[in-house]
Amino acid sequence: MSAPAPHAARPVRANRGTELHCQSWLTEAAYRMLQNNLDPEVAENPDALVVYGGIGKAARNWACFDQILATLRTLKDDETLLIQSGKPVGVFRTHADAPRVLLANSNLVPAWATWEHFHELDRKGLMMYGQMTAGSWIYIGSQGIVQGTYETFVEAAKQHFGGNAQGKWILTAGLGGMGGAQPLAASFAGYSSLNIECQQSRIDFRLRSRYLDEQASDLDDALARMQRYAAEGKAISVGLLGNAAEILPELVRRAQAGGPKPDLVTDQTSAHDLIHGYLPAGWTVGQWQAAQADASQHAALKAAAAQGCAVHVGSDAVSDWPLLNALLNTAGGATWVSLHHGGGVGMGYSQHSGVVIVCDGTDAAAKRIERVLWNDPGTGVMRHADAGYEIAQACAREQGLNLPMLGR
Ligand SMILES: NC(=O)c1ccc[n+]([C@@H]2O[C@H](COP(=O)([O-])OP(=O)(O)OC[C@H]3O[C@@H](n4cnc5c(N)ncnc54)[C@H](O)[C@@H]3O)[C@@H](O)[C@H]2O)c1
Repeated sequence: MSAPAPHAARPVRANRGTELHCQSWLTEAAYRMLQNNLDPEVAENPDALVVYGGIGKAARNWACFDQILATLRTLKDDETLLIQSGKPVGVFRTHADAPRVLLANSNLVPAWATWEHFHELDRKGLMMYGQMTAGSWIYIGSQGIVQGTYETFVEAAKQHFGGNAQGKWILTAGLGGMGGAQPLAASFAGYSSLNIECQQSRIDFRLRSRYLDEQASDLDDALARMQRYAAEGKAISVGLLGNAAEILPELVRRAQAGGPKPDLVTDQTSAHDLIHGYLPAGWTVGQWQAAQADASQHAALKAAAAQGCAVHVGSDAVSDWPLLNALLNTAGGATWVSLHHGGGVGMGYSQHSGVVIVCDGTDAAAKRIERVLWNDPGTGVMRHADAGYEIAQACAREQGLNLPMLGR
């Protein structure tokens, strides 16, 4: 077999074992994690460099991907690589305790922070959408979200079902990179679950990895299974091939007529992105995919998708906190630090930062770890204490955080 052309799509697999391909384990970690993000067993659409979350990418294009790897192989321990929306744009001299990589993804000046403007820049090859963990090379597949989803479901049981989820069932949609964690987390938390997904390949992936137990043949079969498992108190997850925009209204109609009702309803389609993330009612998956690839159809697709889903967003618009978090983690000596815009909820609705610190067993690393792993959660406590949460204020006092305005 001949070698793939340079910069062409190809299966990517990170090196394993103790042999170094870079100048240190700090840069080797970034080198392996970037590649692991695009491993066909991890990424949702590796050929397009898409890791998860609709169009969340690890690098802007294959040429950028190749160049990031080449740069990481030679990056010295007093140098820092800068990544701008998936493109390696510079290497500067810093120092041994500074991050080896700094990344900023999808950030737009607020007045232009819309999907329209983002897509225009994306089409011109000037940007990419980094989601949260894709563009910072720290995505580890659905396993990364199992615990958080599990905690959420357990908390819901505490608040609504006297702490016992047995005999309860969850209705949800979307079995992608993040949503695929829901059936397993639901089972762990004691619920059975009905998981609607419009692409058979996504259901197959989750059945193969055993995050999902079984697939129903149609809606009647799915509901019969939900009722049976609820009666038997069994926590079993069931996939159903179909369009949530069509099935959910039908379920409401049946429930109003006395049919089965779920105990919890969630959604993990990529409804934050009306072009790539949500199959509109009445559309086939083939039509949907064709319209995604044709910019002249985007307006019609958006209008149709918007009818079928409602996007819920939070109200906290101050993004100084994640910016401060990233600056502090940089100053503290993290190994890489990223800044993002739009992850989880889309353009204009979020800014967040990410941090990685490599533990290589050295004394120097121990000092960096001590600073970063104290400071990083510390900024979370600071932010919530400032917003008036009593639990955060108590935590700040208990841990001796120096917050000059606390209690004033
Ligand atoms: N849970 C979290 O903590 C977390 C973290 C990051 C992102 N998110 C958000 O969660 C959402 C899902 O993320 P993901 O990585 O799983 O996305 P994904 O794009 O990998 O998967 C979405 C899935 O929804 C399916 N889908 C779309 N429209 C549908 C419809 N009408 N009916 C049935 N299925 C439909 C798609 O086929 C796809 O499999 C995104 O909005 C993402 O930003 C959540």
